[in-house]
Parts: sequence; C-alpha cells; structure tokens
Amino acid sequence: MKYTMIAPCYFGTESTAAFEARRLGAESVQVTDGRVTFQGDSEIIAAANLNLRSAERVLLLLKSYTAETFDELFDGVYDIPWEELMPADAQFPVKGSSLSSTLSSVPACQSIVKKAMVERLKKGHHTQTLPETGALYKVRFALRKNRVEILLDTSGDGLHKRGYRRNATEAPIKETLAAAIVDLSRIRRDSRMQDPFCGSGTMVIEAAQKALNIAPGIRRRFAAERYTDLVPPQVWARQREKCLAEVRMDAAFEALAYDIDPQAVALAQHNAKLAGVAERCRFEVADVRDFVPDSQSAVITNPPYGERLGDLAEAARLEKILGERFLKSRPLSLSVITSDGDFEKNFGLKANRRRKLYNGMIPCQLYMYFEDARKPKK
Ligand SMILES: C[S@@+](CC[C@H](N)C(=O)[O-])C[C@H]1O[C@@H](n2cnc3c(N)ncnc32)[C@H](O)[C@@H]1O
Repeated sequence: MKYTMIAPCYFGTESTAAFEARRLGAESVQVTDGRVTFQGDSEIIAAANLNLRSAERVLLLLKSYTAETFDELFDGVYDIPWEELMPADAQFPVKGSSLSSTLSSVPACQSIVKKAMVERLKKGHHTQTLPETGALYKVRFALRKNRVEILLDTSGDGLHKRGYRRNATEAPIKETLAAAIVDLSRIRRDSRMQDPFCGSGTMVIEAAQKALNIAPGIRRRFAAERYTDLVPPQVWARQREKCLAEVRMDAAFEALAYDIDPQAVALAQHNAKLAGVAERCRFEVADVRDFVPDSQSAVITNPPYGERLGDLAEAARLEKILGERFLKSRPLSLSVITSDGDFEKNFGLKANRRRKLYNGMIPCQLYMYFEDARKPKK
C-alpha cells in the first residue's frame, strides 16, 4: 500500500531533506516551505524515520479536504477508518494549527476532531468505552486556507532526538539543523573537518555520522514501531539491518574540535562515544585565538552569540579573531551559522554565499567561504 508522508523541516533545509528522501527511494518528492512531501510504502515509513537527518518528524497524511464548517471538519475525520489504524485502547491526543481559515479556533477544531475520532472508533470497534490506556497515537490537524490535513505522527519524539545527546551545553544547535549545515558544507566520506566552538559536539558528530553513513535513528525507537498493522515488526527489522549493512567504516572522515570550556569538551567526547563516532572525532580544550585552520579541512562552526550587550561585544570579538585566524591559514572551506547580523563586518570578509536558516525560532544566516574568499572586503 502507498502512503503519503509529510516531513516538516526547518526553513532553508528543505532541499537537503528532499535529497535524503529521494535517496531512500521515496517517490513523488515535493518541497514546499518548511516541509517535504513524499510517497512510499511501509518500508519507506520505517526508512524515513531511521535515516532522515534534517527532517523533524515523519507524519502520515491520512486525509486532505476542504472544511469551512465544523460539520465538514467532523465528517472528514469520521470518514477515516480509524479502527483499522488503531486499537480500541489507543491513546490519541490531538494537536493542530489553523492559518488563514474560516475555522480559526484551534481548541474548537481540536475538540471536533477528537469527537469525530471517538465516534468512529466506538462504532468501528463495537464498544461504548475507549479507555485510552494503550499505545500512543499522536494525531495532528493543519488548516491552511480552509484545506485541512489530518496527520498521524509516526516518529513520536522529534527526529532530532538521536539518542546521543542526553546532555547539552548552554546553546546547542539542533541535530537536524547541524545535519543540514553539514550537507550544505559538502561533507563527504573522506572529508576532514574542524570546529573551533564545538560545545556539546553536535556539528562534528553529525558530520561523522553522515560520512560513515550511520543512520541517525539507529539508536532509538519510533512511535510507529507500536503500529504493527501499519509497519509490521519485520519491516523495522529489515530496515535496521539495511542501515547497519550500509555503515561505511572504511570512510576516512576525521574531525578535530575545540572549545574553551573543559566541561563542554568532556561532554562532546561523551556524546561522540554514544553516537559511535568517538574514534573519528578528537576534542581538545582550546581558545579560538590559537585555532589553526587546516588547508585540507572544512571548518563548520556555531560561535557564541549573546543577547545581552556584554555578550554581544564578546561575540563580536570572537568573530573578529575567527576572521584573523582564517586569513592566516586558509581551510578548504568555512561555514558559520549565527544570528548575528553583523557577522561579516566583525569577521572582516564578505561570504561567498549566504543562506537563511532558522535555529528553532531564531532567524540565522549560514555564511559560507570557499577558496577565493580571502580578498579583503571593499
Ligand atoms: C553556541 S555554542 C556552540 C554549540 C555547539 N554547536 C553545540 O551544538 O553544542 C558556542 C561555544 O563556544 C565556546 N567558546 C566561547 N568562547 C570561546 C573561545 N574563546 N574559544 C573557543 N570556544 C569558545 C563556548 O564554550 C560554547 O560551547
């Protein structure tokens, strides 16, 4: 059976997520703002959850229709054969959103969707009671210009939860965003990489996992593992085996990462171990003042950026130092993600390429420097 899946992702990372979906064999891959839509069977549901690096979650599109009244909303939900999807004891919390639609009250829509599900499940399972004590089925609705989508979350926890970052430093970058940046920075199986502000190590860990082709979800579980009618256990087993068989331990990838904070360095080491890439990543305590970019390495980093005045001045000082170090010894490339609009001024060079990205809700830019980027700023 063919399903339509929607994988939300951060604005600016859609093309990376779409590429990843195509590589898995997903069909009819389409990109719109902040999401990738694709089709596939139950193997693709499992493969997408296990392998997508830059998507936030994998949602199953159960139905898409027009609803301008509560009755229309109710009828559309009631028509879905919920009893074939979930057992009588399923827990099914409903969450949703509404934009530019006649039905603008999210709580009201939420209770209509829930009510329609309850009615349908009672009828379908021939019961008067739904205890909601069993497996969790997170249901979502999205209303946009009177079109409603009814979705079932197959991931559970967001896909950024890889299972290797139990603890994080103060301002960690989301794993999914780090993965997209690593991809945009063209990290390959034999790449060398450096990060002078590594914090909890996310950037190098994501790069190492990509280079070694370690599936980001291999160490965790997904909601749809309990939806055995939808994705049978043997499908998960087959996809997990495939992931393990495709790991490239022969890849030559190596990373060197630094942070001034010894606790961050210890944490990054710990996280890299949990992620199965400790042997490819070396972490050291060092000040960016002593950073020596390597001519064969891609430098990818997320420097501190403060909101308060003192922190802002410190951030500007560090960006200036990074620029000086870059001019002294040139790496293969440099990618810097920051929300500091003055980055290029502080750094001292215009980027060859800039890309707008969001770190959670924070608008950022990815500043990318390549070979010919050393000409002084005009
Ligand atoms: C935004 S955080 C990096 C977060 C990281 N990407 C992660 O996912 O955890 C910036 C890091 O820069 C480090 N840092 C601050 N000043 C530094 C300096 N002078 N030299 C090197 N690292 C510094 C901080 O300790 C912090 O861990």
